[in-house]
Amino acid sequence: MRTNLPVSRREHEMCDGMTLMSTTDLQSRLTYANAAFVEVSGFEIHELVGQPHNIVRHPDMPPEAFADMWATLQQDQSWSALVKNRRKNGDHYWVRANATGIKRQGRTVGYMSVRTKPGRDEVLAAEKLYAAFRTGRARGWRFHKGLVIRSGLLKGLSALQWMPAAWRVRLGVLGLLASCVAAASLPLGSMAATGALMAGAAALACLWIEQQVTRPLKAVLAHAQLVACGQPARQCSRRQTAGTVATRPDRSVLQAVPWCPDQ
Ligand SMILES: Cc1cc2nc3c(=O)[nH]c(=O)nc-3n(C[C@H](O)[C@H](O)[C@H](O)COP(=O)(O)O)c2cc1C
Repeated sequence: MRTNLPVSRREHEMCDGMTLMSTTDLQSRLTYANAAFVEVSGFEIHELVGQPHNIVRHPDMPPEAFADMWATLQQDQSWSALVKNRRKNGDHYWVRANATGIKRQGRTVGYMSVRTKPGRDEVLAAEKLYAAFRTGRARGWRFHKGLVIRSGLLKGLSALQWMPAAWRVRLGVLGLLASCVAAASLPLGSMAATGALMAGAAALACLWIEQQVTRPLKAVLAHAQLVACGQPARQCSRRQTAGTVATRPDRSVLQAVPWCPDQ
C-alpha cells in the first residue's frame, strides 16, 4: 500500500458540474487524464501519464475500498463510490468515482474512471465511515461494489442498497401479482371494491418502479449525455473559487454530438 505524504487536511473543493476522467492500462498505470483531472490533482500531465493511479491515493482511504474496487472490476462490473484523493501539495479532494473496464473485441484492455463532485452530506458520511474502517470500528460492515453494506447474515438489511435493477422490477411485478391474488380472494362483496384494491396495488407498483428504476436510469442517462458532450464549462461561483478552476469544453467533441443539452 502506497502512503503519499504529507497531507495538509485542507480540502480543495471541486466546481459543480466538473468531470474528472482518467484511463489506465490493466496494471492501473495512467494512460490519459483530462484537463479537469490534471487541474484538480495539482500534478502536471507528464507527472501523471505512465504512473500508477495510486499517485493520488490519500492515506485516509481504507484499503478495503480499493480491494472491493479491484474485485468488482475483475468481475467485469463497474464500481462507484466516494473517493478521497490527495493533491500534489498534500491537500485533498472528494470525488464520486465511477470506474469500469474498457473493452476491445470482448477483452478488457484497460480501465476508466469518471468522477464528479459528490454532495456535502455524502462526503461527511464517507469521512466518518472510512475512518471507522481505518480504525477497525466497522465490524459487521463491508464494501460491496462501492457500497458499504451489512455483512454476513445481516446482508438482507441492506437489500435496498445492493439489489440489482432487474430484481427491483421483479419485486414490483411480484408485489402487484400478490396484491391482486389477495384482493381477488378477499370476501370484499363487490367487484368495485376488488377493482379499487387492485388499482391501488398497481399504482404502488408503478411508484416503486419509477422510484427504484426509472428515475435513477434517467439520472444516469442525463449524466452520460453531459460526459459524452465533454461537459460544458461552468465557472466556479465566488464562494467556490478557492483553488479551483473550471473545465473548458472540448469543441471537437461538442460538434460531434448533436444532442448535447445546453449547447
Ligand atoms: C480506472 C481506475 C481509477 C482509479 N482511480 C483512483 C483514484 O482516483 N484514487 C486512488 O487512490 N486510487 C485509484 N485507483 C486505484 C489504484 O490503482 C490503487 O489500487 C489504489 O490507489 C490503492 O493503492 P495501494 O495499492 O497503494 O494501496 C484507480 C484504479 C483504476 C483502475
